[in-house]
Amino acid sequence: MILFKRAGELAGWLQEQRKTGKKIGFVPTMGALHPGHISLIDISKRSTDLTVCSIFVNPTQFNDPKDFQKYPITIEKDIYLLEKAGTDVLFLPEVTEMYPEGTQQLENYPLGRLEMILEGKYRPGHFQGVCQVVRRLLDIVQPDDLFMGQKDYQQCMVIRRLLEITGSAIRLHPCPIQREADGLAMSSRNVRLTQDERQKSTAIYRALTGIREGWQAGGAPASQAGDQEALLARARAILEESGFRIDYVEIADAATLESILDRKDGQEAVALIAAFQGEVRLIDNMLL
Ligand code: PAJ
Repeated sequence: MILFKRAGELAGWLQEQRKTGKKIGFVPTMGALHPGHISLIDISKRSTDLTVCSIFVNPTQFNDPKDFQKYPITIEKDIYLLEKAGTDVLFLPEVTEMYPEGTQQLENYPLGRLEMILEGKYRPGHFQGVCQVVRRLLDIVQPDDLFMGQKDYQQCMVIRRLLEITGSAIRLHPCPIQREADGLAMSSRNVRLTQDERQKSTAIYRALTGIREGWQAGGAPASQAGDQEALLARARAILEESGFRIDYVEIADAATLESILDRKDGQEAVALIAAFQGEVRLIDNMLL
């Protein structure tokens, strides 16, 4: 694995590789890597010729300064895991390399309602920060294919929108959520949970599977809004019993993320949860 810290050097090196006809796959991350991240590397390796991973804890996407300060950093282990997975290139920039002009004058992207709902509502400015860093990374790496996790369902939609806005031809591949044996979605933030909190956190998976079972038993199109409300109320109860403070529990249209009030025949839906266990905010979702 080749490690680059300078954007210009990485871009130059990739330019040479591209000349030999290599297709470039890209996996952006904030490090503290786990098998969820590595699954993206695996998928990229299977479908492209050269896989680039970036590790950069992007300050502009943290609306909560405490979350930024406490974001886990495990760079040596990350490098080991990436090497083992056969990653070709790691890009590991400093803040000044990513934002040479500072972070005050960065572009704002017209994301519309997508940044007002769900994560956008509870983390103001977050998706602008994600777009700013991903845009910069894509300009440097110029990949053919971009691999991102469905764990961050709304983020995938935001990046799809970013690619549209910028007229980019990069193909976005949303990849399946990797879970622990007890169902908890893998996340860099899980290491911040105490043993007790870690155990209680399985409630998210139970709440999501409960919604999915209820939804599938409900059958379209006869169900009314009341049924959805009952499913959501049960999910909230499961979370609260395990000590979660809930930001949202929603059933939404899988294509638009608008709340589903009237269920339509054949409509693809997704259940989404964000909630705090102690100080740690966890998010997860499940296609219904
Ligand atoms: P990070 O949270 O490090 O996640 C990097 C990528 O790994 C994202 O695409 C995320 O959806 C994916 N991922 C995380 N947990 C996963 C899991 N359990 N299963 C499958 N994929 C998983 O998301 C970010 O970083 C940042 O916002 C970033 C896009 C890098 C911009 O800073």
